[in-house]
Amino acid sequence: MTIPQFRLEAAWEPVAGTSGKFHFSLVNLSDETLTGFRLSYTSLTRTAEKHVCENARLTRKVANYHEYAPPEGFTLAPGAIWSFTVEGLTRPAKHVTDGAKSAYVTTADNRHLAMAIGDLMLKGAESRTPPRLLPDGKTDEPFSLLPWPRESTLEPGDAVPVALYPAAGSTAADVAAMAAIQGLYQRLFPVDHLPFSLVAVDGGIAVTFAEKPGHADEAYEIAFEPGGIQLAYGGAAGRQYGLTSLAQLLHGARPGGSGFRFPKSGRVSDSPRYGWRGCHLDVSRQFIPTADVLRFVDLLAWHKLNIFHWHLTDDEAWRLEIKAYPALTDTGARRGPDEPLIPQLGDGAEPRHGFYSQKEVRAIVAHAASLHIETVPEVDIPGHCTAVLITYPDLTDGQEAPDSYRSVQGYPNNALNPAIEATYDFLGKVFDEMVTLFPSEYIHIGGDEVADGSWLKSPLARALMDKEGLAGTFELQSHFMKRVKAMLDARGRKLAGWNEVAHGGGVSPDGTLLMAWQNPEVGIELAREGYDVVMTPGQAYYLDMVQAEEWQEPGASWAGTVPPAHTYAYEAEGEFPEALKGRLRGIQACIWTENFISRAYFNHLVFPRLSAIAEAAWTPRERKDWLRFAAIAPLSPTL
Ligand code: ACM
Repeated sequence: MTIPQFRLEAAWEPVAGTSGKFHFSLVNLSDETLTGFRLSYTSLTRTAEKHVCENARLTRKVANYHEYAPPEGFTLAPGAIWSFTVEGLTRPAKHVTDGAKSAYVTTADNRHLAMAIGDLMLKGAESRTPPRLLPDGKTDEPFSLLPWPRESTLEPGDAVPVALYPAAGSTAADVAAMAAIQGLYQRLFPVDHLPFSLVAVDGGIAVTFAEKPGHADEAYEIAFEPGGIQLAYGGAAGRQYGLTSLAQLLHGARPGGSGFRFPKSGRVSDSPRYGWRGCHLDVSRQFIPTADVLRFVDLLAWHKLNIFHWHLTDDEAWRLEIKAYPALTDTGARRGPDEPLIPQLGDGAEPRHGFYSQKEVRAIVAHAASLHIETVPEVDIPGHCTAVLITYPDLTDGQEAPDSYRSVQGYPNNALNPAIEATYDFLGKVFDEMVTLFPSEYIHIGGDEVADGSWLKSPLARALMDKEGLAGTFELQSHFMKRVKAMLDARGRKLAGWNEVAHGGGVSPDGTLLMAWQNPEVGIELAREGYDVVMTPGQAYYLDMVQAEEWQEPGASWAGTVPPAHTYAYEAEGEFPEALKGRLRGIQACIWTENFISRAYFNHLVFPRLSAIAEAAWTPRERKDWLRFAAIAPLSPTL
């Protein structure tokens, strides 16, 4: 590991009527004198086109990558500090994470030197520490079930069984199901005593299994009786959830635990509120290695979530191996100072490369399926395609004016062009391979945040608009989406996408599922238009959003401040008219990883809000209880 010999300190100063001013200080801790160097940093708060720098000049900017040069002839001696300011930002900074996420120095002879980063300080005011995000919990029912069940009447016992084991005569499938949850527990809590044993143990309790044909697949019932535990289930998923509940009950009730108890009598009768209980994970902005994705899937299973929405591609990288296009995961999954894809979102002096081989994808999908979790892959098109277009420039209209539109994240000309036939050849080959990897009912094709004005400076797009009578970017987008839907239909898959898929005429709602992220109202509108809807509003379910107003709390804030209490209390059904409720398939957490530069950030932002969404997805509204949740949530495992 290189110990950085340079450090960047930064502060943001509010300036009335503007988005404020950054103050940077580059501290030279090395014994090298620098001249003719550059400083690069990545920051979600970007320098605007119109800006004023003091003691520096901006020499390059792409999305959140910025490069600055000191004044001509400037020398930075060992121990010296170069200070400069930048006024004219794309938005005001609000939190400690709104400054540089990474930085490095490039010397005159093109060496890239690592740099450490300080916290973004607030200048002109004292930055505040956040309050506790989770209160002390309280519950009259001392049972550590999360999500809380639909119905339960349990009496706490004084004893904790050593382990639960399958009663004599259990089927091989029942024993295997117990082994699967035993394995899950072992991975999540490697130090804790296991909840199960596959053979009888002294001080243990026998579990008798019974399949109940006619019950819903995901439903289960547990009866705690003097002679042992009866676990009845509708199908294999229900059996898994029942066993998970038993493991959770034991996990909380172990001595030295948190005051929870194991039931001595009573019943649990349980089934989920929604059929779609999802969590999305963006692995483009930050690569999450396969071992961590497998653990992430385990975390979903522990929470009885059943959809893993895997956001595999974005502007910043394409992470899915496609054998027909090897450069996608070579060039398109590597960011570095001298790479076609330049550093973004926490990348420093060293290049970073990461993708999932098809073998790894198969292993992850199979692991998820073994825990009754469907993996829904997303390739985000036509926008968010910088990584594709940098890798395969032939997919662009060579006559399109460069930098003729920009995405909200600041990427120029980042959308696949609907007027280029090669676009569809490319996507056809990608989909051909995806359907061999992912058995899911849906393939998610993104469709979000195509910048208004996209393609309008492309002569090929203009010709298509004339030929087809299309007006503007979003009718072009709808033309593209209809072709994509036909391609998925031909491969036996349904189209899922973000809510903007409906723009400009959208696609046929038949079999189409859209995710309402921009606000809750858009979900109702989509349902009215006939689409199936999953609610993922940023204002409640985006786990990258900051959890308190205070400066020192990390996270993004464009959709507001989202404390765990709000995520928990939020009711996605909200104002859904009764007649449209049938279109609401469920709810989903979204983990966008721009800010997730470490595992610690991941865990801080994801928990306990993921647990809150899992409970909202499963537990009937009238059974939700914030203080009970607050008591149980700290027992949940983290990544
Ligand atoms: C999104 O947040 N762009 C779906």
